[in-house]
Amino acid sequence: RILLTSAALLAGTAASAQTVGFSQIGSESGWRAAETTLTRQEAEARGIDLRFSDAQQRQENQIAAIRSFVAQGVDAILLAPVVATGWDSVLEEAAEADIPVVLLDRRVDSSEDLYLTAVGSDLVHEGEVAGQWLVDNKPEGECRVVELQGTTGSSPAIDRATGFRNAIDGAEGIEIVRSQTGDFTRSGGKEVMESFLQAESGNEICALYAHNDDMALGAIQAINEAGMNPGEDILIVSIDAVPDIFQAMANGDANATVELTPNMSGPAFDALEAYWADGTEPEKFIQTESRLYTQDDDPMAEYEARKDLGY
Ligand code: AHR
Repeated sequence: RILLTSAALLAGTAASAQTVGFSQIGSESGWRAAETTLTRQEAEARGIDLRFSDAQQRQENQIAAIRSFVAQGVDAILLAPVVATGWDSVLEEAAEADIPVVLLDRRVDSSEDLYLTAVGSDLVHEGEVAGQWLVDNKPEGECRVVELQGTTGSSPAIDRATGFRNAIDGAEGIEIVRSQTGDFTRSGGKEVMESFLQAESGNEICALYAHNDDMALGAIQAINEAGMNPGEDILIVSIDAVPDIFQAMANGDANATVELTPNMSGPAFDALEAYWADGTEPEKFIQTESRLYTQDDDPMAEYEARKDLGY
């Protein structure tokens, strides 16, 4: 239940003094760092007092942070949930306290009534875009794919895996031969790619699908160290569009990425400000774009456009 009481409306009248608690997952990737930076900047530009909590990848830390925000009586909570399950009780506590919760970038499996809105991309579609790129660009014949998954149990890991499979299912000759989590980190991507290369030694790997660019960048290192050419011997498609992947694309080491904007807080604060002002209920899902970039898209220009955004 998201309840709009007179107290919440009254709190909304002092628009410049709103307090928002932000439970962030951690700093596992360049994308995550940019989301944190942009959220801080957005809050400052709007005169919002942002209380930031870094959960260091642990759901229990996020639950504790939300309880603390509720106890502090904040005017809203931003939650980037590390995993999709296990949020009902704490979201109910926030709803009981009439504190609207906005989900950022990841989704939960709780009832929609327990949060005001979710800002994010269509995560299944992202996987489909990545998979379709491979269908359209794979070499002739069989294509054996390895997959670096995101954090186990997180909505992007679940949905990006589903979307990719949706896209390649009807295509002839593409097979996922190995799939493992690299936890959305560069070091995880490198380590798991090394183990893939070792396990597949003697077998050709045609492509890597990584659920984020950081893992792809770690894997590129592993492929180089194994004496192969990433981007040529092994095609590389991933998700996020962080500056470093554009540099890798410019060098020919990566082939394609699907953009996930790190500016989730802009639409989130817009929705909250309207809600605080007069109780306007936003749509339950505020969708951001998922654009595909390839080596043909002037990667260095894309790098320059993003390099100072806090990635
Ligand atoms: O939830 C979004 C994902 O989380 C990003 O794609 C990844 O880089 C981050 O860690």
